[in-house]
Amino acid sequence: MADSRETNAGNSNNKVVGVRRLKEAMAKPASTRIFTVANQKGGVGKTTTTVNIAAALSMGGLRVLVIDLDPQGNASTALGVPHRDIAGIYDVLMGDQPITAVVQKVAGFPSLDCIPSNSSLANAEVNLVSMVARELRLKEALVEISPNYDYIFIDCPPSLGLLTINALAAARELLIPIQTEYYALEGLSQLLETYGIVKKRLNANLDLSTIVLTMFDGRTRLSNDVAANVRSHFPKELIDIPIPRAVRVSEAPSYSQTVMTYDPLSPGAIAYMQVAREIAERGKPKEEANFDSNFDSNVVNINYKRDGEIA
Ligand SMILES: Nc1ncnc2c1ncn2[C@@H]1O[C@H](COP(=O)(O)OP(=O)(O)OP(=O)(O)O)[C@@H](O)[C@H]1O
Ligand SMILES: [Mg+2]
Repeated sequence: MADSRETNAGNSNNKVVGVRRLKEAMAKPASTRIFTVANQKGGVGKTTTTVNIAAALSMGGLRVLVIDLDPQGNASTALGVPHRDIAGIYDVLMGDQPITAVVQKVAGFPSLDCIPSNSSLANAEVNLVSMVARELRLKEALVEISPNYDYIFIDCPPSLGLLTINALAAARELLIPIQTEYYALEGLSQLLETYGIVKKRLNANLDLSTIVLTMFDGRTRLSNDVAANVRSHFPKELIDIPIPRAVRVSEAPSYSQTVMTYDPLSPGAIAYMQVAREIAERGKPKEEANFDSNFDSNVVNINYKRDGEIA
């Protein structure tokens, strides 16, 4: 397989999606890593982080699934996957479709799949209430397909309702994106409380393993203060490569793309690539941990200057 190639995506919009395969594959985990990406605060970069890390890992040669668990359907849109009037994760949660029937391939990527949301998902919070084992519907559905993937990411809505609880019950790891702005840490205690309850009652294996700083602006004191604050509270969990606030990142979804394909050499794409590689490094099987990780984003490396600007 060529190191880099252009692919005609042939998706519904007939857009050409350029896909770059990395020269150096990313480390494969010993078993499937299932991440829930959650923060009940709206607009902090959950979806952006989900789709771009997923795309980057897929470009690194790993088999990746994104589950769009938000009725807004933003992850489905960003991955260019049809979702409005077709069966999606809602139908699986309700027991009306087998999970294998709703998996879609993401155009332009060799090993990236998506289970879309659809508008009915907005009814899920209400309709799940009366169901047996209502918190475990997603976990049970995932059993059948999780061995097919190295990574599964579940993109949550901005709430701590039954959908997010289902995601937390189904995952092994929790990834929290934190926007480096004022009030960034507000509400985090509520999320951590929910995490604790789920861990105690529903999913003892759940681990808050990863925190990603989003929309970082190294020129502002505020961004740097928030980063320092998060670092002091979560030194182990924090990935110390902040995602910069970058126009290309916010433009990509309107082209039904991730920034990894829309503009792979832009600062946002490079940062997400580095974060994905760091996640893969952290998750590689223990016996390999002694080898030199040779950390290399493979596209271009960026360095953050002391003041946080991209060097
Ligand atoms: N690094 C970035 N630079 C610039 N804009 C960004 C960046 N990350 C996210 N955005 C923009 O910020 C907005 C919110 O991001 P996103 O949709 O990922 O957040 P979210 O937490 O999933 O939101 P919601 O809570 O509604 O699900 C979007 O318009 C997105 O394009
Ligand atoms: Mg979202």
